[in-house]
Amino acid sequence: MPKPKKSTTAKAAKPIAMPTMPSSSSTPWPAELAKLSADDRQQRLDELRETVAGCTLCAELAKTRTQTVFGVGSPEARIAFFGEAPGADEDRQGEPFVGRAGKLLTQIIEACTFRRSDVYILNTLKCRPPGNRNPTTEENDNCRPYFERQLEIIQPEYIVCLGRFAITNLLESAAPIGKLRGRFHPYRGSKVVVTYHPAYLLRNPSAKKDVWEDMKMMLKDMGIAIPEKSK
Ligand code: URA
Repeated sequence: MPKPKKSTTAKAAKPIAMPTMPSSSSTPWPAELAKLSADDRQQRLDELRETVAGCTLCAELAKTRTQTVFGVGSPEARIAFFGEAPGADEDRQGEPFVGRAGKLLTQIIEACTFRRSDVYILNTLKCRPPGNRNPTTEENDNCRPYFERQLEIIQPEYIVCLGRFAITNLLESAAPIGKLRGRFHPYRGSKVVVTYHPAYLLRNPSAKKDVWEDMKMMLKDMGIAIPEKSK
């Protein structure tokens, strides 16, 4: 697991524990973090947020971003929704999934009977790529320790991968989404649900029913009753 190189321009941040184990989807979650209270998890997330806020590993992104976009939600979430990268709205507001795609994600979360504050929402990349271009391999590699550590602190039971980019980064699979949907994939101690990105749903509303099937698979596995009118 490459650790982020030291930044020369970032303001001095407290040293922070980054994932120490190889980033393998079969490495179990560290047991010592599983025992943490919600407050301790939140404290670790806050420290990591500070480190991320000072990150200048990707020179172009650090120069063009308004701010970093870390993650939001419960440090004890059972579900993490894992997206791609901040867009213009997220870059402005400093919170993931607050634009049009974000509003649709909120509706999906609420259809599952949760509030945004019950789950955790994060992205692969913490900075907006200018013009919403695709992130580069180097940018992915630079940001990987951050999302890995976020997930390691929260240790969600379920990680919902939203779209191709999140899937490639978490599962390192190049298979099409259609081939990966409909079953759980292991990632450390979590069950990964693969589904379409809300931005894709805005362009292809007919895929909403597939996403709902994916959510129902997860809710059933969680032992949560499927909301009657959405069955
Ligand atoms: N798309 C993403 O993948 N993440 C966001 O935060 C917003 C849009």
